[in-house]
Amino acid sequence: MTTDTRASLTITRPDDWHVHVRDGQALHAVVGHTAAQFGRALIMPNLRTPVTTVAQAQAYGARIRAAVPAGLAFEPLMALYLTDNLDPSEIHRARKTQDAGTGARVVALKLYPAGATTNSDAGVTDLRKTYKALEAMQREGLLLLVHGEVTSPEVDLFDREAVFIDRQLIPLRRDFPGLRIVFEHITTREAAQYVNEAGPLTAATITAHHLLYNRNAIFSGGIRPHYYCLPVLKREAHRLALVQAATSANPRFFLGTDSAPHPAHLKEHASGCAGCYTAFAALEMYAEAFDAVGALNRLEAFASFHGADFYGLPRNQGSACLQRQAWVAPESFAFGEARLKPLRAGETLGWKLQ
Ligand code: NCD
Ligand code: ZN
Repeated sequence: MTTDTRASLTITRPDDWHVHVRDGQALHAVVGHTAAQFGRALIMPNLRTPVTTVAQAQAYGARIRAAVPAGLAFEPLMALYLTDNLDPSEIHRARKTQDAGTGARVVALKLYPAGATTNSDAGVTDLRKTYKALEAMQREGLLLLVHGEVTSPEVDLFDREAVFIDRQLIPLRRDFPGLRIVFEHITTREAAQYVNEAGPLTAATITAHHLLYNRNAIFSGGIRPHYYCLPVLKREAHRLALVQAATSANPRFFLGTDSAPHPAHLKEHASGCAGCYTAFAALEMYAEAFDAVGALNRLEAFASFHGADFYGLPRNQGSACLQRQAWVAPESFAFGEARLKPLRAGETLGWKLQ
């Protein structure tokens, strides 16, 4: 490994292919962070009332645009929340949003296994119930984004992702060979290996926090709820496999922060919410992870090219410049009536987006 001591890094303006911006006051509190960092972001549809129709997605997209601070060029890309009984005609309507001048673009559907994570009660109970919708997606060219965890109570929490590959993803991939699938926020060696071997239509997003931390972070010196997210952080061997995948130049791995804001008091709770808030310094955190293994020269493709290419969208114009500069992350942000405590609160970061 060569030590890269450059003082700054300029890359094409990147995209975030997986982010939660919520709605209402919370949306207003966080969307500026994402819009300052990224040209586009794929907005997750797990609102308290899930975004299951194109009409809802476009109304949500308009609320997002209205909440972006003036002067920032930012496009929210929308995903629908896949349910057991999604009407396949909705897929055709979704594809039509990709024609010019039709409002927010709906480019994908998100599969949440029922009960897997925040606001997933309306999620899919049995993949076979979605096969009509998946056929329509394959035909219309919409992507399937998967939260890749089984929820069976007999499966160890730390094995949920690896078991999902065998029980759900391999059969799904076989039954829909023409469907573009993104395995979201992968956390294991098994997932990285699966994607490496799965051919050109299977990709994965990787978060900054899964590149920077292993599961020790959740328990160091006491239980630390701000490191709790789903899928949960794994062992160091898995973190290393994710770093290897992200920095490997394989175009089927790309940036998705899974920045997932919750009020601090609901994370610091007897039954704390899952989700890490990273949007305020996402690129800085990715730069730190790439820099740590001497792979800064691989960051641009991971952050700015691979995702756009996989989605079949043009790469962004414009650029983002990171400086090697120490600064202290805020302790918290206003979040409606509550506070939002970010990952790295009060800690020093080594890169700063200009
Ligand atoms: C996400 C959230 O809070 O919406 N939480 C998380 O821990 N990642 C949901 C998700 O992406 O699983
Ligand atoms: Zn997420």
